[in-house]
Amino acid sequence: MIGILDSGIGGLTVARALSDRLPDYNMVFFGDTARGPYGSKSAEIVTDCTLRGIDFLLNRGSEIIVIACNTASCLAGERVTERFDIPIFEAVTPAAELSVEISEKSGIGVIGTRAVIDSGAYEKKIRELDPRARVCSAACPLLVPLVEEGWLRKPETRMIVKKYLHPLKVRQIDTLIMGCTHYPILKKIIQRKIGKRVSLIDSSTTVAEKVRQFLEQHPETDDLLGKEGETEFFVSDLTEHLKKAAKVTFGRNVLLKRIEH
Ligand code: DGL
Repeated sequence: MIGILDSGIGGLTVARALSDRLPDYNMVFFGDTARGPYGSKSAEIVTDCTLRGIDFLLNRGSEIIVIACNTASCLAGERVTERFDIPIFEAVTPAAELSVEISEKSGIGVIGTRAVIDSGAYEKKIRELDPRARVCSAACPLLVPLVEEGWLRKPETRMIVKKYLHPLKVRQIDTLIMGCTHYPILKKIIQRKIGKRVSLIDSSTTVAEKVRQFLEQHPETDDLLGKEGETEFFVSDLTEHLKKAAKVTFGRNVLLKRIEH
């Protein structure tokens, strides 16, 4: 079983990307809606919540874990991958790898929650891969609530995206990492505002692709995973509004089950 961990329902973009690539694989999703959003929290809290979320997914029978949440990946990724001896995938590395591969060197932009940007984790990873890379980043804290409100076509959303992207646009980046589970939902607006010559990297599809490639190259792990196409979605709190927001991020109706956590 593939375990997918998120701070809430944004990580359903990753669940969707995984189920598009690995439709038969059994998956269990956990969104920590009682404690999320993580994007404004400290590293200590996010690490603690991430460890607890992974424990839950292991108890449900996960043999591999995907940390869908960029904030958890940046703030807790290294610590948790060291702690468990099963494959754990985080969202930062695959997106950073693709950015250095496709950037034509005029600059890589990163957008994410405040915690993602303040952590500097994307810059660090990109510079490890290419020490000459020019990286500029911008925190976009209003985009998560706008997506969860379903404000996908509002002029206010377009205006806010434009304002957030302005500092990256003036620095003439050629590649932009959408380092947040929710941003793929705003992809069209982001592309329009940053300009069509900038390549967008969607961290939900890059991590899903990394998992697919890993399983192809590691049949010993692949053989452990059930392939009956069963999926379960758990959250630590549930409201009518969350059900609607989950439909926006998953792209179709999804049955969320609330668990004590
Ligand atoms: N899932 C988070 C991320 O990708 C966004 C929501 C939150 O702040 O928890 O960074």
